[in-house]
Amino acid sequence: MLNEKILILDFGGQYNQLIARRVRELHVYADIKPYNKITLDEIKGKSYKGIIFTGGPNSVYVKDAPTFEAGILDVGIPILGICYGAQLMVYIGGGKICNAKANSEYGKTLVKITDSELFKDVPNESIFWMSHTDFIKEVPVNFEVLASTEKCPCAAMGDASRKLYGVQFHPEVTHSVYGNQLLHNFLFDICGCKGDWQMEDFVEQTVSYYRKHLADKKVLLALSGGVDSSVVAALLNKAIGKNLICIFVDHGLLRKGEGDFVEETFSKGFGINFVRVNAQKRFLCLLRGIREPEKKRKIIGRSFIHVFEDEAKKLGAVYALAQGTIYPDVIESGKGDSAVIKSHHNVGGMLAKINFVEIIEPLRNLFKDEVREVGERLGLPKELVWRQPFPGPGLAVRIIGEVTEEKLELLREADAIFREEIIKCGNDLQADQYFAILTDVCTVGVMGDMRSYGYTIALRSVSTDNFMTAEWTRLPYEVLERASSRITNEVHGITRVVYDITSKPPATVEWE
Ligand code: XMP
Repeated sequence: MLNEKILILDFGGQYNQLIARRVRELHVYADIKPYNKITLDEIKGKSYKGIIFTGGPNSVYVKDAPTFEAGILDVGIPILGICYGAQLMVYIGGGKICNAKANSEYGKTLVKITDSELFKDVPNESIFWMSHTDFIKEVPVNFEVLASTEKCPCAAMGDASRKLYGVQFHPEVTHSVYGNQLLHNFLFDICGCKGDWQMEDFVEQTVSYYRKHLADKKVLLALSGGVDSSVVAALLNKAIGKNLICIFVDHGLLRKGEGDFVEETFSKGFGINFVRVNAQKRFLCLLRGIREPEKKRKIIGRSFIHVFEDEAKKLGAVYALAQGTIYPDVIESGKGDSAVIKSHHNVGGMLAKINFVEIIEPLRNLFKDEVREVGERLGLPKELVWRQPFPGPGLAVRIIGEVTEEKLELLREADAIFREEIIKCGNDLQADQYFAILTDVCTVGVMGDMRSYGYTIALRSVSTDNFMTAEWTRLPYEVLERASSRITNEVHGITRVVYDITSKPPATVEWE
């Protein structure tokens, strides 16, 4: 089925993927194209229902500022310009932009609105998110001003006859209270979309694209068992079947039962071409005597690459490497278009011994919750799709000091108990990541009538939106009590349990 499509013309703004996501949430498919990678003629030939000009960091009058052929305003396709995109419409349409620090606005701003199709069902006074210094001084011929703020004489403009609209604010961010309503009005009332796109279509279209694009070619994937690489595995398996080879390096630093669960799911459940490399001994050997966190990370990272390379070489020529890069990884790198290598399961940039013709990143335009939705639609188990993040270096950064087999065993057991107790409470606790840490502190205890001496386990649970900042979770005492009592009773060698009540910042989520 051919879906209706919106073109998002990218002028370099930081919220561009968020615009695409909002459009997808309204069940309309959006193509994002950099402004200089598509021509006016190509746009004419693609039957877009509408175009959104994104924001961008520039000023339209700056030399080499991103621009577009002025003819775009007359091809008969509705356009919504956002921030820089609106200013660009003014500029190429013959209006005037001014730069005055006194008029700059940042943050939640009260916008006064006049009635128009764009603002249907939006109150006359409404909060939208602003972030600009330049402002629209004079709208182009045939446009009228549709909204204003205290500092900005034109916060929105429109030419209803040509279906051209521009807004100075960002409707796509959640702080814009009626932002979604505005986008809805643009897509459905102005562009005439019906909203027939579903995540299922993403799955179908992506599978069918890669089926054609990768016909008869071998593709390699470093499968960590995390959500992103697992979804890539399921997606590409559907597209190219046995030509996808997943290498799962078990470095022995995984949680209780994790290695077997990953193998069970992919090798047996999905029948994927799956290679498990049991490298536990190799990693433990290399970590012997190492106490310093950064050294541990480096050893694990480097050895992971070596093991992966050794396995991959056995396969002969491989055309492409697939990676689980998702959109937040692209933003964090600040690199926009260019390929990004995320630590551990995105290893392409570090593989010196293998030449790939292509790096494939099927999820690079999706946000985490969209990736989870794709995973569910592909039939991946819930435990996997809703899995909390787990660091590449695994339990090695949750064992303070030297990593040994004995310590790994203690931590695995304690961690499994704590996670079990939290899971029992359902989703009520708002704990986004929770785990145990084996500290390097041994303390005295009493068991029966005997003195005992053993390790201290720390429990950590954080609540967060994005893991850049995090609050320690206010877990109910009963949950902590059950976890503490079970850990000291069931895991021999642990005499004490403490709960970490530090937020990030100043602490990090992981202890090392
Ligand atoms: P921090 O400790 O930096 O953790 O506050 C933030 C989030 O990132 C995860 N994390 C890692 N993930 N490799 C990874 O793939 C790593 O080396 C790593 N270190 C931390 C951590 O679990 C948390 O979700």
